[in-house]
Amino acid sequence: MRSAITIIDQIDIGVLAEYIEQSMQCFNPPLNFNPPLSASYTLLDYCSKLLGRANVHAAKWDDKLVGLAASYSNDNENYQGYLTYLHVSPLVQGKGIGGMLLTSVISNARICGMRTMAVDVSVLNAAAIKLYNKFEFVVSSTYERKGFLIHRMVREFAT
Ligand SMILES: CC(C)(COP(=O)(O)OP(=O)(O)OC[C@H]1O[C@@H](n2cnc3c(N)ncnc32)[C@H](O)[C@@H]1OP(=O)(O)O)[C@@H](O)C(=O)NCCC(=O)NCCS
Repeated sequence: MRSAITIIDQIDIGVLAEYIEQSMQCFNPPLNFNPPLSASYTLLDYCSKLLGRANVHAAKWDDKLVGLAASYSNDNENYQGYLTYLHVSPLVQGKGIGGMLLTSVISNARICGMRTMAVDVSVLNAAAIKLYNKFEFVVSSTYERKGFLIHRMVREFAT
């Protein structure tokens, strides 16, 4: 299975938008776009922002997109990268793809000079929390957002 999967960092905006649109209902709490999607700020605008400012990694199985990660590594004050999006297609979850994407995200953040990486995750999202724990993220704080309890998890990079 793993040998058929490749991680790519060049993604067409239409393919990206289609993947994100299909994945949206998988998130709990629901995806929180910033700024929020509206008539004037569309999914394509959000994807354009990601492709312009974030590092986007996708997992391809043969020709099909089966996972996506987006992260920011542009914090020149605190040097903290931020994982803003991680999703693996439900049909192929549990096969190591999330881990492969996270490995790429971390490696990219380190290359960009980040010293730590943060992610916000619902306290109820056991699968994601276990994945982040496996990659040495630890809970640094817990806060409430729109009625949901959220862990801020941080991974320190060795110098
Ligand atoms: C979280 C998510 C990205 C994990 O992707 P995945 O490809 O299934 O993960 P992997 O197969 O690489 O698993 C890696 C590790 O994650 C943990 N994990 C993954 N799925 C799990 C599950 N259902 N239950 C418990 N632990 C799980 C395990 O520690 C696993 O390592 P192990 O197999 O050695 O025990 C995937 O479940 C997903 O897309 N969920 C919906 C979107 C989401 O919640 N994203 C995170 C938002 S912060």
